[in-house]
Parts: sequence; structure tokens; C-alpha cells
Amino acid sequence: MSGISVIGLQWGDEAKGKLVDLLTRRSDIVVRYQGGANAGHTIVDGDQKYVVHHLPSGILNPDVINVVSPGVVLNPQTLIEEIEAVTSQGIVIGQRLLLSERAHVVFPWHIAEDNAWNNTLKGKKNIGTTLRGIGPCYRDKVGRTTAIQLGDLYREGFKEKVHAICELKKSMLAGFAGKFDADLLNPETTISDYSVLAERLQSYVGDTNHYLLDAAETGKRILFEGAQGSLLDLDHGTYPFVTSSNSSGVGISSGSGLPGKWIDEVIGVAKCYSTRVGGGPFPTELENPTGDHIRKMGNEFGTTTGRPRRCGWFDAVAVRYTTRLSGVSGLALMMLDVLSELEEIKICTSYQLKGQTIVDFPGNADDLAEAVPVFETLPGWQTDITGVQEVDQLPQNALNYVERISQLIGAPIEVISVGPDRKQTIAVGNLLAGN
Ligand code: IMP
Repeated sequence: MSGISVIGLQWGDEAKGKLVDLLTRRSDIVVRYQGGANAGHTIVDGDQKYVVHHLPSGILNPDVINVVSPGVVLNPQTLIEEIEAVTSQGIVIGQRLLLSERAHVVFPWHIAEDNAWNNTLKGKKNIGTTLRGIGPCYRDKVGRTTAIQLGDLYREGFKEKVHAICELKKSMLAGFAGKFDADLLNPETTISDYSVLAERLQSYVGDTNHYLLDAAETGKRILFEGAQGSLLDLDHGTYPFVTSSNSSGVGISSGSGLPGKWIDEVIGVAKCYSTRVGGGPFPTELENPTGDHIRKMGNEFGTTTGRPRRCGWFDAVAVRYTTRLSGVSGLALMMLDVLSELEEIKICTSYQLKGQTIVDFPGNADDLAEAVPVFETLPGWQTDITGVQEVDQLPQNALNYVERISQLIGAPIEVISVGPDRKQTIAVGNLLAGN
């Protein structure tokens, strides 16, 4: 058996979907194990573009089983819309989707709560969430008393639970009076809407824990598809400007229910520059025409929310940390083509903090906000590389740039991506062999 995982090494949006899609060809099962509809994975194949939020990217491959495991928070309405969208694009799902009965369900009150907090926290304190109800749903999961798992939708007691939760939520949200839509706390509407949604999903719902344990023990090839990026990890990221799940490599086991012994390879995915959506410190951010140029060339606007992404230089201090944290065995460097027009490119190699030079990523967001990046400047290549297929066809300056990144963060390069299409992928190591 080989278990391989694909983990974002920055603040999400590292183009993981494309890599997962390429790796599904050597996988029997793809697992989504954390996050929810806050994620947006885009896969481009010729003139077809697929966008998935909950669905594992393996859904596009007819030979792959797709598992949404207990660590995910699931919005049934969004999931059904996704299923309908990919089906209308010719994808046959059939019995290739399994949803864990243990996954927690996002309800309208979670979205109301996300909005209410977002409207309350101002300025630099605002996390700037995707407003998909992710944090409030995970908060209820940890709190236990007001949580509903997917399997609960099919059990007696569901209606009573919704009534009780709506009552509680009404009083809890009273402090936000006027800032949320009271209809979102109407138990009858929720019961009737969610009963319809539950029926539509029923054939996919079951116990994925035993399924995955059996699969691992019988030698199936499993691909773990991380969502968001390691710097957004709840415990190990730039807290509190993080998401509410363990989005670095350390979250694979807890979210999927498979112990670490089944994970042999970790592919860390990083863009050749940095982006961040939402609030929080971002030392290498470029709030200038170069940042605007990167945003334009990389089409850096959120897949889920459409928000413009903040753009900056590659931060080797941050990515060296997440490479170690996630146990990365090989690196996929994405979107190298976005930098092609630049005369010079910078890499952050250390920070200046409180009069000292540091190379270890700070553990506190206030320290990170104070950190001043120290850059190394490399010459650009100013050549179109979107048609390059082999690593030795890359301009020398492009090669020097990616090799310097690899050296600074301490991981070998497996893949370089030079455009959104599956074909615009340069295999450097053996990872994609046989594709
Ligand atoms: P939440 O996950 O919606 O609670 O948002 C928390 C933080 O994570 C915000 O800064 C979001 O912009 C960010 N975030 C959540 N999901 C993604 C993603 O898929 N890509 C990039 N950022 C994300």
C-alpha cells in the first residue's frame, strides 16, 4: 500500500487540486479529511474547468473512490450543487462517493454566526473568514451540545435536536441583534430543507473509518487531499488568523481516521510567490504595482469568495517551517509562469525581529506582524515558459530560482507547474512517472 498526501505549504490556494488530479491516476481512493466548503479546488482539462469545494478531486477520474472523512464539515446544500455541477459536465459519480456519518453538518445558524462575528470584529482583528459557517460548525463540534453529525440526519431525534438548538442559538445570538437573519433560526424550515437534502445524499453516507482501515490493510493506494494551507492550521499556523481545522500534514490522521503508518509520502505544494486571503500578518506582502502584477498574471481572486488575494514574494522562512511541520518528502512548485515578466524576483530568507536575525518562523501572530523580511534578489528570465515540458528547457534563471527555493526550504523538487492545464506540468522527480 502507498499512502500519499498533498499539503499546501502557504496560506491556501497553492493549486493543490491540479496536483491531486494528476496523482489520482496512481490512486484507488482520494480522501478529503478536513475543512469544508471554504476550500475551492480548480482543475483545468483542456477547455473544461471543474471547481469542487467538498468533493475530493478524484471525483473526475472514473476509477477512483472518493471519501469525505470525519474531519470535514459538510454543507449538504453546497455539496448537492457541486454534485449537480460536475454531473452536468459529464462526470458519473455512481457509487464512487462515500460520506462519513461522523462528519459534522453546517447549518444556517453557523453561517449567521460567521456573518455576525465578521461584522463585529473590525480592522486588524478581523479574521476575514469565507463566511461559510466553518468556524461556528467546528466550534459546535468541539462543544458537543449543539452539534449535528451527518448520520444524525437519518436518526430519530433529529427534529427535537434542531428545535432545541434553534432555541439555544436564538439566545446565544441575541447579542448580535439586528446583525443576522432570524429566518435562519426557524426550526421548521431547517427540518424540512435538511430532510430533503439528507434523502438526496443518503446513498453516499456510511462509516468511512472501517472502509479506509480495510482499504489500507488490503494494499489500496490512498491519496489524502489537504485543503487550505499549513500556515492556516488551527494549532500550528498564524493563530488566530487561521482556519478551524488542522490543515497542515499533522491533521491527516485525526481527520481521516487512518494512523500515520499509512502515509508514506507527503507532497508539499507551494506557489513560486505568496498569497493570502483574509486578515493576518503577511511579511512579504507587496502592496504596490508588483503585487498588482502578480495578482493579475496569477488571476489571484478567491475560488470560493471571489475576493482579491493579497500577493507577495516567496517566503522561505515560512515555507521551510511548514515543510518541516508537514513532513514534506517532495515539493511541487506551482505557477512559475506568473513571474515570467519580472526583471528581478525576491525571496525572503530571514526576518529581522526585535533587533535579531531569525530563520525560524515566529509562533505568535503579533511577532510575525512585526517581523521585517530580509530578501535575496535573483534575476528574472523574461521569457514565456508556459509551453516548457522538460526541466532542462527552462531558462537558466528560472531554474536557478526554483533550485534556490528548494535549497532554502530543504526539500527536493518533484514537480514544477507552468500553467493551469494538466499538460503544463514539468516532472522533475519520479512522482508523476507513469502518468
Ligand atoms: P474560514 O476557514 O472560512 O473560517 O476562514 C478562516 C481564514 O482562512 C480566512 O483568512 C480565510 O480567508 C482563510 N481560508 C479558508 N479557506 C481557505 C482556502 O481554501 N484558501 C485560502 N484561504 C482560506
